[in-house]
Amino acid sequence: MNLLRFDSEPAWVNGATTFWRDRLRLNPRLRMCLPTGHTPNAIYAEMAGAVQRKEVSFQQAAIFTLDEFGGLAPDDPGRCINMLKRHLLDHADLPAKQFYALNPDARDLDAECRAFEAAAGGPFDLVLLGIGLNGHLGMNEPGSGAGSETRRVDLHEITINSSARYVTHQQLPRWGLTVGMKQILEAKEVWLLANGERKAEIIRRTISDPMSEALPASLLRKHPNCSLFVDATAAAKLHS
Ligand code: F6R
Repeated sequence: MNLLRFDSEPAWVNGATTFWRDRLRLNPRLRMCLPTGHTPNAIYAEMAGAVQRKEVSFQQAAIFTLDEFGGLAPDDPGRCINMLKRHLLDHADLPAKQFYALNPDARDLDAECRAFEAAAGGPFDLVLLGIGLNGHLGMNEPGSGAGSETRRVDLHEITINSSARYVTHQQLPRWGLTVGMKQILEAKEVWLLANGERKAEIIRRTISDPMSEALPASLLRKHPNCSLFVDATAAAKLHS
């Protein structure tokens, strides 16, 4: 795993955005899988600014959502699709037909997941990831193996409680749909993004604990082209 450590949060945002812009310029047809939550939002804002300044374009690209909560109303601001729209898609130039989202309201969730994987059609060019405090990636909670596919999952208590930061009510989601570890690990390139001191301990464990499905983020260490983007506070417990 490559380690990219930035001295400040603005430098981390700028660094990740610069790399991302370059990837998209090199390959305008880039097929990306993107997370939501709080971690990527400042990066999405920078990227949206770059699109508006016409420095880069999503017009030929494709974006797939990484995961989605179940049991929330379609217009709930905490739905991943709504977060992604709010922070990136509403301000970018991606054609709607090149956006693919996991739909937790589908009647047959297994068929929905298979259709999503079929739409992806092969390895993603780039997967961006945040990390949960328990080491989850997407909604691949501890116990998710390297071969796990896109599927319905029950959320762990810590993830349920964390989701309170995204919704404005007490009905917290208890399950979701997620791209599996298999599709993440098969991607051509993976970036794990982490900022802030609350992520320092799980980042330390991701790098130092034994590689195990008990800590899904540690499985990224076997990916041949994975980079960890951390700001100084998230990197605080890493030793050189
Ligand atoms: C959300 C997702 C989650 C988050 C993780 C960290 O689409 O994939 O795995 O990345 O829970 O959340 P934040 O960024 O809010 O700390």
